[in-house]
Amino acid sequence: MKLLVIGAGNMGLTYSEGMAKSPLLSKKKLQIFDTDPTKIASLKTTGIFDVYENLEDCLPEADMVFIAVKPYHADDLFDKMKPMINDGQIFVSLMAGVTIGNIQENLGVKKVVRTMPNLPAQVGKGVTSYTESEEVSRIELLMIRNLLDTTGASIHVETENFIDASTGISGSGPAYVFYFMQSMLEAAMKMGFSDYDSKVLVSNTFEGAVELFNRSDISPQLWMDRVASKGGTTRAALDSMEDNNVNELIKDAAYAAFDRAVELGEAGK
Ligand SMILES: NC(=O)c1ccc[n+]([C@@H]2O[C@H](COP(=O)([O-])OP(=O)(O)OC[C@H]3O[C@@H](n4cnc5c(N)ncnc54)[C@H](OP(=O)(O)O)[C@@H]3O)[C@@H](O)[C@H]2O)c1
Repeated sequence: MKLLVIGAGNMGLTYSEGMAKSPLLSKKKLQIFDTDPTKIASLKTTGIFDVYENLEDCLPEADMVFIAVKPYHADDLFDKMKPMINDGQIFVSLMAGVTIGNIQENLGVKKVVRTMPNLPAQVGKGVTSYTESEEVSRIELLMIRNLLDTTGASIHVETENFIDASTGISGSGPAYVFYFMQSMLEAAMKMGFSDYDSKVLVSNTFEGAVELFNRSDISPQLWMDRVASKGGTTRAALDSMEDNNVNELIKDAAYAAFDRAVELGEAGK
């Protein structure tokens, strides 16, 4: 199988590095195409990928094409791709807000998989949600799942609405965690801890809590009840959050991202 990744930026390179380790590619090198000459030159020196600066040298022969350019570059890219593609090829999009219908129409193709990646893919802890057009076979979908899983975990969703919904949870979600971390860092420093100690306190607290959650069947609510005894310190903090409606505000934020993803998809149609 020949796999081509278009766009060697944050996401394209992250997925390329993960997928390059996949046994699905056997010993063939994964192919990368980008328009930035500096990126091409630096990628060539690594020798890990087959790097291309002309689309006509790689696209016509590819079996599967991952598209990882920014959404605003999509139309221009589609125009260039269109004369070089064939019906057998599968297109996997990492682009936020670009719908399957849009890709099918603009490229004149049938087999399209749309994904929503997230940033921790860079450290092999990503989660990608994906859905497909009806022309993609079960075997092809399984193959794509295996490729996506090289950057972490994945979930299959039935409709594109769930791709937009997962934007609100996992796609934009790392920023919500960073928001919470930033607040805790600021509180620690205000209490007098050094930058270094604040970082150790906060990052280990997050990592430890996630590890506890992952190793048990206990819900976050139950964990909160376990650690917060009546009249104690943790209860004081949780009561303060409840009084300030933090739970509802976080849900509102997730919905704001979800709504924006739908809006961007509508605008791109
Ligand atoms: N980053 C995230 O956390 C995240 C999360 C979810 C989804 N996504 C999606 O992932 C996609 C890629 O995002 P990114 O952050 O990786 O973007 P990025 O770092 O800007 O990478 C895109 C790369 O594609 C190149 N490019 C632009 N036009 C091209 C063309 N016509 N043909 C070939 N290459 C072209 C860009 O070159 P130039 O720099 O010269 O333009 C750049 O090297 C986006 O559609 C985004 O919606 C990203």
